[in-house]
Amino acid sequence: MRILVLGSGAREHAIITALLAERAGHVITAAPGNAGIAADVETVSLDPTNGALVAEYAIENDVELVVVGPEAPLIAGVADPVRTRGIAVFGPSKAAAQLEGSKAFAKRIMSEAGVPTGRPVYAGTVDEAVAAIDELGAPYVVKADGLAAGKGVLVTEDRQAAIDHATYWLQHGHVVVEEFLDGEEVSLFFLSDGHDVRALSPAQDYKRLADGDVGPNTGGMGAYSPLPWLAERWASERAFVDEVTDLVALPTVRRLEHEGTPFVGLLYCGLIVTEQGVRVIEFNARFGDPETQVVLPRLATPLSSLMLAAATGQLAAAPEPSFRPDAAVTVVLASEGYPENPKTGRVITGIDAANARDGVSVAHAATGVLDGDLVATGGRVLSVVATGSTFAEARDRAYAGVADISLDGAQFRTDIAAKVVR
Ligand code: AMP
Ligand code: GLY
Repeated sequence: MRILVLGSGAREHAIITALLAERAGHVITAAPGNAGIAADVETVSLDPTNGALVAEYAIENDVELVVVGPEAPLIAGVADPVRTRGIAVFGPSKAAAQLEGSKAFAKRIMSEAGVPTGRPVYAGTVDEAVAAIDELGAPYVVKADGLAAGKGVLVTEDRQAAIDHATYWLQHGHVVVEEFLDGEEVSLFFLSDGHDVRALSPAQDYKRLADGDVGPNTGGMGAYSPLPWLAERWASERAFVDEVTDLVALPTVRRLEHEGTPFVGLLYCGLIVTEQGVRVIEFNARFGDPETQVVLPRLATPLSSLMLAAATGQLAAAPEPSFRPDAAVTVVLASEGYPENPKTGRVITGIDAANARDGVSVAHAATGVLDGDLVATGGRVLSVVATGSTFAEARDRAYAGVADISLDGAQFRTDIAAKVVR
């Protein structure tokens, strides 16, 4: 199949790695990609948020499937003109991508679909925010309504910090003050064709910058899959996934279909497993990063067939995705100064040594080539991915890969998946 992948992160590199692993002779192009992606497939410098250009490129190059990686192009509406021109797109319309682009839209859909989530109180002024903060009480959860690149959410015991955060984000729009939910977080991905869904295997992300879950929120510093501790409450991973399918994914997809904004693509359910049951903390309209890097290496069903089935309304006839029992762990390497002010342009070495290890593969996130050297071009630079027959093995391999790589001032967590190693 001729496939165009939009985006330039480790998630897109992982998607491309999974497509190449099918050995099905796919012709893959990435736009714009990064240095690691360019070493694997053709790249073109096409603005992924420009729908008209992307549609034109896809037509001229006989692309059969467009896969949209990041949220920004989806929320900008890149899928619509491509779909209008009759090309299969794995990624929701601009209207359906509001599920990620607007917390208020997502909360309304959840409320109408009866999906369990933390109670929200909306505030348009500082007075309203303070009233909501005092009504819901500590710990405080304050969220910017729109896309904020991971910086919009503050969870704190400090009332003044909550008020300051609300005051800051009120300059940019509304804020949502939300009921605090306590429990383990789960990222669960569903492919959707607008009517039916198919679940992938769950993963857990590490959102805070530093070991022990301290420091600022980030895009994600590491992940592992599957989640052995789900077995403490559910008979099997399947039982958990079925429950989330029935309680969250299907009602949401059916509600969007009913409203005339079918969701076609990847529904990312960000969940918290509380004492009272599973609750949604957020929806995203695309694969998670870095969770994708640990979910896709375990996927035994061809990814291209699943994405094409979703993009063409054929999921009901598609096979149930199956997963290898392997453990997968990824550790993210970030630039000095990330997330506030990442230092870029520094040279990276050692990736070949890491890739040469058994079970290790390095996904590039923000890399480029400058004067013949591989350099970091952004905050999250690399995602070192490892699989193994146990979490101990996968984790040892991932950290051995990290140790092979050198990047001045690089930051990474040393506790990824430590809690699932027995
Ligand atoms: P979000 O951008 O909505 O995923 O939020 C970022 C992070 O903030 C989540 O991964 C959670 O760790 C935390 N968070 C968000 N909402 C809540 C909530 N209602 N209760 C507790 N923690 C939350
Ligand atoms: N890892 C969190 C996200 O992709 O939004």
